[in-house]
Amino acid sequence: MQAATSTRPRRVLLGISGGIAAYKACELTRLLVKAGHSVQVVMTRAATQFVGPLTLQALSGREVALDSWHPLRASGMDHIDLVREADALVVAPASADLLARAACGIGDDLLGTLLLARDAVPTLLAPAMNRAMWAHPAVQRNAARLRDDGVRLAGPGSGEQACGEVGEGRMLEPEQLLLEIEALWQPRLLQGRRVLLTAGPTFEPWDAVRGLSNRSSGKMGWALARAAWEAGAEVVLVAGPGALAPPYGARTVRVETALQMRDAVRAELDLAAADVFIAAAAVADWRPRQAQAGKIKKQPGAAPSLPELVANPDILAEVAARAPSPYCVGFAAEADDLVANAQAKRLRKAVPLLVGNLGPQTFGSDHSSCVLVDESGVRELPRMDKLELARQLVREIAARLPARA
Ligand code: CTP
Repeated sequence: MQAATSTRPRRVLLGISGGIAAYKACELTRLLVKAGHSVQVVMTRAATQFVGPLTLQALSGREVALDSWHPLRASGMDHIDLVREADALVVAPASADLLARAACGIGDDLLGTLLLARDAVPTLLAPAMNRAMWAHPAVQRNAARLRDDGVRLAGPGSGEQACGEVGEGRMLEPEQLLLEIEALWQPRLLQGRRVLLTAGPTFEPWDAVRGLSNRSSGKMGWALARAAWEAGAEVVLVAGPGALAPPYGARTVRVETALQMRDAVRAELDLAAADVFIAAAAVADWRPRQAQAGKIKKQPGAAPSLPELVANPDILAEVAARAPSPYCVGFAAEADDLVANAQAKRLRKAVPLLVGNLGPQTFGSDHSSCVLVDESGVRELPRMDKLELARQLVREIAARLPARA
């Protein structure tokens, strides 16, 4: 699970309702604080039966709001002020009872009134309950009504439940909720779009244990997958080998070689058209013509000759040549003459947008920045970390997408 980074600090009003998953709200609070956000906790009376307010106070560094009769704010207007001060209202866990009260607009406790007073504050509820309760038509009705009211529901996930049953109703994990919360602050520029990405290196086997690869970590592709998901897209990531766990919110297809990556990309495009194709993978340009079976054994005093290499297909150029083709975005890591090389590569691969990485010798060794090259020219994006860069790129891509038919 990737850690959240670089989202600028925000104020989260975290409501906790009564359910066993309330213990996970402690970890969520810790993660939010660790990511630089400030957290004001509000607990229902039932929630305090599961975790003590003092625990949440210690983790958030703030007194927990428990009811309207002992307000934290001098105004005495906690039921309005707490949510007006927030950049997001999150309820995790959201019990069946909480969903029902929120759907009906019942303000019989502090959290209920805050949900009524939320106005335009982005709101996320993380349902958590027994699978039969979640499946109940009344709960489903309430969930649908809340979605209609502009509330986002995150999860529930499925799996083993505290009651011992297995099914849908588990609250999402705190790490997942952190990503869901940070997504609340990103514009949904790719809502309803399908984005296909490649990322990471490829590995081209020479024998059973050796092969050709490169040092790509896949981090840029992962950041792009997250940013596209945050923007509302359905994301499919075709990823080469690497240590990164599949990104939350995307469907990940693992491959090893360039040929497998090409086949997986083709299969995805045959399955359903994509609006955007982003080629962030560092595809090996060549592969051994023939991978040897077994392991090449060492001979005393002699080194084996290197295998004969053949060129791998250019996945990006192939996708760009499809009819119809998605909006194609390529990457280019150039050592020198970045703009000229990137522009030439863009034209050679016939893609509308190419992202070029500036070499360290150009802008300083500890900085990374990039240029966007398209038909209208060159645009430099200032130095920032990969997630922010990915969000910026998603904005640039969304602005260039042809309107939907
Ligand atoms: N790419 C691809 N398939 C390949 C090689 C590259 O899809 N077989 C994509 C990369 O994912 C990237 C872009 O093409 O988006 C440019 O990759 P790069 O390695 O910089 O370019 P090459 O075409 O390999 O050219 P060169 O290495 O000569 O600069």
